[in-house]
Amino acid sequence: MSVQSDQLEKLVETVLTSSKYKAVSHDLIRSIGLRELAKRSSLKEAVKATKSKLHQVGGAYLNDKEDYAGWLNELERLFHSGDQDAFLTYVQKVMSYHASTRERLPILDHFYKTILADLPPVHRILDVACGFNPLTLPWMPLAESVEYYAYDIYQDMLVFLERFMALIQVQGQAQVCDIIQSCPTTEVDVAFVLKALPCLEQVDKSAGSELLHRINAKYVVVSFPVHSLGGRMKGMEANYEARFWALVEGTKWEIKRFDFATELVFLIKK
Ligand SMILES: C[S@@+](CC[C@H](N)C(=O)[O-])C[C@H]1O[C@@H](n2cnc3c(N)ncnc32)[C@H](O)[C@@H]1O
Repeated sequence: MSVQSDQLEKLVETVLTSSKYKAVSHDLIRSIGLRELAKRSSLKEAVKATKSKLHQVGGAYLNDKEDYAGWLNELERLFHSGDQDAFLTYVQKVMSYHASTRERLPILDHFYKTILADLPPVHRILDVACGFNPLTLPWMPLAESVEYYAYDIYQDMLVFLERFMALIQVQGQAQVCDIIQSCPTTEVDVAFVLKALPCLEQVDKSAGSELLHRINAKYVVVSFPVHSLGGRMKGMEANYEARFWALVEGTKWEIKRFDFATELVFLIKK
């Protein structure tokens, strides 16, 4: 084992001892760690920089109060009670624990109905860097039978989401995957790339372009936040819009733009 790979394994082990990152994709820690080790003069500095990057791309959206087992128990109880309103209210409560789905709550009732309105029936969906978005399934206008494939970097979150999908009888999988290193290529009707590109491009500048080109979907829904996590505007929307148009330059894709109060969305027909 070379010094570099020895150091890399030590870095991964150290990051995994942190309660915040113990469930994160080892592949992602390794790829960020490798870059940081090359840039920093000590293992300690590289560990610190790796954790900081993991915070920017994932940890910042969670608040350390996840209670996946407790949430699942309550979801199961409410689902089987037959009280649909109470169930959906509780699903929204859980969504509020991830900053990205919390921002979507005020627009949830019309978000998917608007974006998917003119599409043929949707049977297969891919959701990359999904966060808690699979919890919005009850608000999506989908075909009678649907398969949903969700990917993110937190093992515990994905186990919870897969059980939620089973509870509401949606077929599919929720799996850990660093989508920068292995873009899912399952053929689907619609792929969601919601508020994901800025996070991916913080690790690898070419990740956004590669993902959009490699995804095997008839339609791709790409979105961007219009506020920063701190809530200030700072011209974000204009910057992200410019980035999107740069990413699709030279393609023959048809593109529709949607403005929501908390999210800027582009629907790509490939
Ligand atoms: C801004 S949130 C968006 C979440 C969700 N798509 C939504 O709009 O509600 C970004 C998500 O990307 C995930 N993520 C970051 N880097 C990733 C990677 N390399 N592979 C897969 N998921 C990643 C984070 O864990 C986080 O859940």
